[in-house]
Amino acid sequence: MRLKPVLLIACVAGTVLGHAAWVHAQSVKSPGGNAASKTAEQAYKNIQVLKDVPADQLVPAMQFIKASLGVQCDFCHLENAFEKDDKETKQTARKMMRMMFAINKDSFDGQQKVTCFACHRGARKPVAIPTINEEEGHIAAEAELSLGANTAGLPSADEILQRYLQALGGADAAATISTRVQKGALTVGAKHFPVEILAKAPAKRVTTVHFPGADSITAINGEEGWLSTSSHGVHDMGPSELDGATLDAELFFPATIRQLFKLSRVQQQEQIYGHLAYRVVGMRDNWPSVDLYFDQESGLLVRMLRYVQTPLGRNPLQIDYSDYREEAGVKTPYRWTVAGPNTRFTIQIEQSQPGAPITDDKFAKPASTPP
Ligand code: HEC
Ligand code: HEC
Repeated sequence: MRLKPVLLIACVAGTVLGHAAWVHAQSVKSPGGNAASKTAEQAYKNIQVLKDVPADQLVPAMQFIKASLGVQCDFCHLENAFEKDDKETKQTARKMMRMMFAINKDSFDGQQKVTCFACHRGARKPVAIPTINEEEGHIAAEAELSLGANTAGLPSADEILQRYLQALGGADAAATISTRVQKGALTVGAKHFPVEILAKAPAKRVTTVHFPGADSITAINGEEGWLSTSSHGVHDMGPSELDGATLDAELFFPATIRQLFKLSRVQQQEQIYGHLAYRVVGMRDNWPSVDLYFDQESGLLVRMLRYVQTPLGRNPLQIDYSDYREEAGVKTPYRWTVAGPNTRFTIQIEQSQPGAPITDDKFAKPASTPP
């Protein structure tokens, strides 16, 4: 990574709960006022295609492009002048968006089937010719995959969730823990930073990462979410950022996991780190579904895969949970790795206090300071 330290801080901090705060990281001015209710056209200076999308989806859409083409923002943008159209690649990207919307409209009933990534696959120019097979045993792998997709004889989603709660120590025991204070380390690349987490059920959580010279805080309190760094002030989460952060926090106190989803489906079994896991798809009203993977043997949650909707495609974010330890009769993961197309870091808990008293003022949003 060629990021300056302060950018790194903002990037990592912004993704502690899963969403990049690259609004700061890229020194883009956040859309003014109540971003949630504005369109991209109203909040930004030069929007010609993505006019009607909610303003808070514009930057996630850019993140989606970046990951789809395997480029940085400056592939299309001048530094500190995102509204300018000087680069030809930016103009091409507008044409591509129009083409993509037309393909989906004409050939896929308006569903978001073809995306930038569907063609580009992480490259500036899509590959038009199939690649030569370099490995033997390719067919065997595919055969295995299709076996895994067979859903006959799988337990129901409810059975899997029940078993998960039992594996944790029982739903009743899990329900007795409604706060947790944890200390540990956040590792990104070869660097480690101290991290502290304060959490209260159902969905209050403050994560503080101590970077050299600056603390970075990611927080939600049940109503709003924000990110603050000493250098960049307070940035409010948009609705999808808040949704993702809330899900993460809710899974931290899993006693009510069965109420989180409107309907759950078991889709297939997959290998995760060499263990077979059931994949449960949790459906929700108005938000993208969430994939939860439960280890077939232990019954424990080993992975969550959630998505942030953008007008160009969905940005995936994966959290892998491990190192489950028992505290106050309930198992909880002491280690989790957060990974997306542009981010990857691990939090390892060293000390945890279940049931520690935490007063509500710890979850109060600080006054906004202009960046
Ligand atoms: C492949 C080209 C491409 C890449 C890479 C790209 N963008 Fe964009 N960006 C665009 C296009 C095209 C628009 C205008 C969209 C429209 O007209 O609807 C835009 C618009 C924007 C705007 C709105 C500017 C304004 O005021 O009008 C911002 C902010 C922005 N991009 C930020 C970013 C960031 C941050 C990144 C990196 C994460 C990024 N972009 C990566 C093509 C790109
Ligand atoms: C249906 C397939 C397809 C989709 C979908 C698609 N592209 Fe492309 N794109 C191409 C092809 C093919 C080229 C290369 C043309 C060439 O070789 O000159 C290309 C080229 C580009 C280039 C120019 C790259 C360069 O190095 O000059 C940009 C920028 C780009 N696409 C952005 C996007 C963005 C952003 C999206 C999503 C909104 C997107 N594309 C979606 C097929 C696609």
